[in-house]
Amino acid sequence: MKLIILDHYFQASEWAAKYIRNRIIQFNPGPDKYFTLGLPTGSTPLGCYKKLIEYYKNGDLSFKYVKTFNMDEYVDNTHILNGNAADLQAECDAFEKKIKAAGGIELFVGGIGPDGHIAFNEPGSSLVSRTRVKTLAMDTILANARFFDGDLTKVPTMALTVGVGTVMDAREVMILITGAHKAFALYKAIEEGVNHMWTVSAFQQHPRTVFVCDEDATLELKVKTVKYFKGLMLVHNKLVDPLYSIKEKEIEKSQSSKKPYSD
Ligand code: PGA
Repeated sequence: MKLIILDHYFQASEWAAKYIRNRIIQFNPGPDKYFTLGLPTGSTPLGCYKKLIEYYKNGDLSFKYVKTFNMDEYVDNTHILNGNAADLQAECDAFEKKIKAAGGIELFVGGIGPDGHIAFNEPGSSLVSRTRVKTLAMDTILANARFFDGDLTKVPTMALTVGVGTVMDAREVMILITGAHKAFALYKAIEEGVNHMWTVSAFQQHPRTVFVCDEDATLELKVKTVKYFKGLMLVHNKLVDPLYSIKEKEIEKSQSSKKPYSD
């Protein structure tokens, strides 16, 4: 597991966006090889999405050969659960099949709730769960009322969510955690054992997880933990520096095709 600690929300969002950009470009997606990206809802990823949009507009990143599951932010190739489907479980099963048909998820980006839920896998969710209907915890209803005019009665009480097992199947998982209100959840996620009451802790057992957080989110961690991971930032920053651009890739391609024949 990697823990990336940046000063503030903006820097954490930018680091995450750069990481996603480099992963997509290095994967070298094409018509026969799509990059499959799992994306979260919620407010945490907004800063990261803004950066990704900026990279796209500047021509540094393309989503042409990227398939997303969960969000419908980018052009085609998107899959989102339909919470109004007549048969909700059939909708969930079909979603799992679509992920499988796409070759599985290369990078699953997730956010967490203050109660440590990943996607809507509320406390007590099975750590091997798949996509299904979940009843939302009161903590989540309270936290999300801000998206519904602050009116608790308007917040849906149920949601469709990918399971912990669905996210665990991704080849890599990146979890964004910012703000002091998530500090206890981050502590439970990385300093305590795997526990279904803090479903994000399951990712201790994923072979490739990167947590990206800001200083505020580290408030409940041991000074020793924070120092240890900050000491690794020199190495971890190499994941986003150099920052790749598809413009350079295109130039490289055109130059290699122009190379004179030599033997
Ligand atoms: P937030 O929600 O990003 O708006 O804090 C995250 C979540 O509840 O999973």
